Amino acid sequence: MGIQISPSILSADFANLGAEVDSIADVADWVHVDVMDNHFVPNLTLGLPVVESLRKVSPLPLDCHLMIENPDRWAPAYAEAGASSVTFHVEAAHAPVRLARELRAQGARAGMGLKPATPIEPYADLLPELDMVLLMTVEPGFGGQAFLDVVLPKIARTRALLRDRDSAVWLQVDGGVSSATIERAAEAGADVFVAGSAVFTADEPAAVVSHLRALAEAAAVRD
Ligand code: DX5
Ligand code: ZN
Repeated sequence: MGIQISPSILSADFANLGAEVDSIADVADWVHVDVMDNHFVPNLTLGLPVVESLRKVSPLPLDCHLMIENPDRWAPAYAEAGASSVTFHVEAAHAPVRLARELRAQGARAGMGLKPATPIEPYADLLPELDMVLLMTVEPGFGGQAFLDVVLPKIARTRALLRDRDSAVWLQVDGGVSSATIERAAEAGADVFVAGSAVFTADEPAAVVSHLRALAEAAAVRD
């Protein structure tokens, strides 16, 4: 599939989401939608009604990242609301295999997210059940935090596990991704990049997306 860029609207103007999404529509692959419940993370953002509204206006598929407790209960509703990819956190899921299968049965891509301190190895056998692994490169909850280099070895180990299984599972990184950090993440093996503040606090969001893609593509070749 190659390198993909999924700008996070967490740092966009919530009163103008339609226009914000339009600003990156020609250059991005996805729109990353951060759902937070003030329990799994200490922040509250948006939920199903906003996803349903976004789906109607967004020219790009929605990549919903659920930072919520009990995703077993809520995640399928996001697929139903029109999300093309739904990522739950493994730290919160009660039955990740059942949930991934349910999401796929609904026609969505199933993603599994890991916080920075959560190891990938216990979940190695689950990888064929997934379409994407999301490795957080900040503690989830807020945009604008610094990229955690401590996660780089886990990105590389996850890439190695995926290669071993010759799988088509995408490897997404989320948090602190910018022109200063994206090459390191790409060299380690990530192929889907979420960027929030780097894109939506810029004067020209589309230009930033294109620049990030070029940097990641060049770095991935060096991998
Ligand atoms: C943080 C969210 C991220 C956030 C990234 O918990 O999951 O998607 O928007 O923002 P930046 O790119 O600013 O770190
Ligand atoms: Zn996110």
